[in-house]
Amino acid sequence: MTPTSKRRGDPIRVGVLFSETGVTSTIGRSQLQGTLLAIDEINSSGGVGGREIVPVSYDAQSSPARYALLTERLITEDRVNVIFGCYMSSSRKAVLPIIEKWNKLLFYPTLYEGFEFSNNIIYTGAAPNQNSVQLAEFMTSNFGARVYLIGSDYIYPYESNRIMGDLVMQRPGSEKLAERYVPLNAGLRDFAAIMKEIRDLRPDFIFSTVVGDSTASLYCAYAEAGFDPRTMPIASLTTSEAEISQMGWEVAAGHYTSAPYFQSIDSESNRGCLGRLRERFGSECVPNLCWEAAYFQMHMFANAMRESDGDEIAQIMPQLLGSEFDAPQGRVRIDPSNHHTCLYPRIGRADATGQFTIVREARRPVHPDPYLVTHSLGDWTVALHAQP
Ligand code: ACM
Repeated sequence: MTPTSKRRGDPIRVGVLFSETGVTSTIGRSQLQGTLLAIDEINSSGGVGGREIVPVSYDAQSSPARYALLTERLITEDRVNVIFGCYMSSSRKAVLPIIEKWNKLLFYPTLYEGFEFSNNIIYTGAAPNQNSVQLAEFMTSNFGARVYLIGSDYIYPYESNRIMGDLVMQRPGSEKLAERYVPLNAGLRDFAAIMKEIRDLRPDFIFSTVVGDSTASLYCAYAEAGFDPRTMPIASLTTSEAEISQMGWEVAAGHYTSAPYFQSIDSESNRGCLGRLRERFGSECVPNLCWEAAYFQMHMFANAMRESDGDEIAQIMPQLLGSEFDAPQGRVRIDPSNHHTCLYPRIGRADATGQFTIVREARRPVHPDPYLVTHSLGDWTVALHAQP
C-alpha cells in the first residue's frame, strides 16, 4: 500500500517547492500563497472525498541545485507522489530528471520558453504561442520592429529571446539590434552600459527577459536614463504586478506585459478569488500570472483526485488530461496531447495603480503549442479595449 492510498480520513500529502528567499522570492512567495489558498479552499469544503490535502513545503532559495536536492528528499523521505513548484526554467530543468527517474508528477505554474515535453509534468503557465506570439504582433504593429533584447543569464531568457527575435524578424523593416545578458543579481550599475547602448541604437522597443529582483533595477535604470515608454517601451512576459510592487508604479507605468492573467481582470470569479486571498494573507501577497497558475493547478489536482483511486501518476494522469477548471483568467483546460494548458492571451500596459490596463485579450482560449509548430503573427482573436 502506498503512503497516500485512498482511505477516507487519510491525508493526501503533496510536495510544495517554491522560493521564499533569494532573487525570485517575490514571485515564489506568491506562488506558495496561491497554492496554500487553494488547499485551504479544498480542505474547508470537505477535502478530497473527506481526505485533507497536507502540503510538505520547503524553501528552495532560488537555487536550482537546492530544488534538485529537495525534490529527491520529498520523494524518498517525505514519500510524496506529486510536487507543485518551480519558477525559473533552470529549476524545472534540475527537477525534471529526478521526477522522471522516480516516475512522479510535477505541476509547473510558470510561463516558460517551451520546446519541452515530459510525461511527468503538467505545465499550467503560458507556452510561447500563448504570450510571445501575441506580444510580438502587438509591439511590432504599434511601435515598430527594431528590437533590443535583454535578459537574465540562464536558459529561459536565451530561448525566449531567440523566439522573440525569430517572431519579430517576420515583420518588414525588422532588426535585432543587440542581445545582452545580466547576472541574476544584477543591480542598477549592471544596466549602465546597456542604457548607453540603447540610447545609441534607439530601438522601437526593448524586449526584457530579466527575471526576479533585478527586474526593478532594469526599469529604474531605464527611468533614470530619461527614456519615454510612450515611444520606446519595455515589453516583457515576466514583469508582473509582483515586480511592479518592487520598483513602484511610477517606474513601471507605460510598459507592456503579455500574460494570461492580470489582477485587473474584470470577472466575478477573479474578484472573489482576490477577496479570499486578502482575507487569508492580508495585503502582503501580490497576485500575478504565476500566483494564478499555482492556484488553479491545485484545484485541478483535487478535482482529478476525486475521480482517481490514488495519487500515483498512472492513477491520476488520465483524470487530469482533458480536465477543465473555471480559473480567475477564464475556463482553462489541460491539453491531453502535450500536457500544457489552454489559456487566454492578454496584453497589459502598466498603469498608475501598480496594475495593468488590459489593452488586448483573446476572446477564446488559445491551445498550447509548445514547439511552435504554427506561429504566424496575428493568429489570435483579439478584442481591443484601449489604444496603446
Ligand atoms: C522562467 O524561467 N520560466 C520564467
